[in-house]
Amino acid sequence: AMVEKGAYRHFMEKEVHEQPDSVQHTLSEYLDLVTGAAKTQAIDFAAVDRIQIIACGTAFYAGQIGKYAFEKYAGLPCDVEIASEFRYRSPALTPGTVAVAVSQSGETADTLASLTWCKAQGLKTAAVVNVHTSSMAREADVLWPTHAGPEIGVASTKAFTAQVSALLALAVAAGVARGRIGADEEAALVKALFEAPRLIAEALQMDGQIRAIAQDLAKATDVLFLGRGAMFPLAMEGALKLKEISYIHAEGYAAGELKHGPIALVDEKTPIIALAPLDEVFEKTASNLAEVAARGGPVIMIAPATAPAPHGDGIRRVDAPDCHPLIAPLVYAVPVQLLAYYTAVQKGTDVDQPRNLAKSVTVE
Ligand code: AGP
Repeated sequence: AMVEKGAYRHFMEKEVHEQPDSVQHTLSEYLDLVTGAAKTQAIDFAAVDRIQIIACGTAFYAGQIGKYAFEKYAGLPCDVEIASEFRYRSPALTPGTVAVAVSQSGETADTLASLTWCKAQGLKTAAVVNVHTSSMAREADVLWPTHAGPEIGVASTKAFTAQVSALLALAVAAGVARGRIGADEEAALVKALFEAPRLIAEALQMDGQIRAIAQDLAKATDVLFLGRGAMFPLAMEGALKLKEISYIHAEGYAAGELKHGPIALVDEKTPIIALAPLDEVFEKTASNLAEVAARGGPVIMIAPATAPAPHGDGIRRVDAPDCHPLIAPLVYAVPVQLLAYYTAVQKGTDVDQPRNLAKSVTVE
């Protein structure tokens, strides 16, 4: 069936607003809201030694968020690699590894070739894909579907949060299967995950604040995104989104790397966007922001209103919903996407069909 924009100005805007539903639907594939349990998976995580995620672009960043969760909640070693590198560098595989392709389309040439190669090497394979009839869905031993529905905008939004939802839920399932997570913690984590749709809807209310910031971002030629933990890959995703649709140069950095180079870029013309949920590393990020502010960098801190203010003037705050650290990448994805969206709208670019880009890269 034809997908229509309805009341929205762009498909991207519509897709950003569909995320409470697409995340809910995807989580329900892996978790039982009624019993508070993670569903048993076709792959026995207790027998897995390592996970190798392979993906491109936004799906690669979703994979990196998945890595943090698999290691934290399941004690399961997890590597993530860009498919175009993995494919051509003769990676050393270890038995007991499950190769997991992450892809919206299920057709990205490098990701598909990497998956096929892993399978030929004798590894068990799985695919986290949104198009359930795609080549990757057919090729992998196990299909781990996302339920984002058709994504039309070239800039991936709801497919990304669906990938993150699936990977977080699978990490919890793996933690349970490996005896790392007890019954009480399982119930608490499942409950936290199912709070994501409501908190995403709340984050969509940040619209007005984000629109105001986008007015300024549209004038910038360079933007830095910073985060720690799962906010680091989300910072890179934010930079990619901004580049793709507003054509503004942006970089995502681990906040702790600032002193190792990028702080040299700080000046009054380079906005620094910090993704700072109230988690165990909040204070570390806050002190990085104080350093940037002390050097005259315009800082925009996206954090819960309850988070303490970092030292220094010139730190502009955008209030985000408070949430469990597990779901922060889902909730903070919204302001990141809206920032790119409104900046692009302000610049008048072709949001749904940015120059030079194709929705699915089937020719490498
Ligand atoms: C995201 O905004 C991109 N346009 C792009 O990076 C995309 O995520 C990448 O090409 C992977 O596509 P896939 O998920 O269909 O494999």
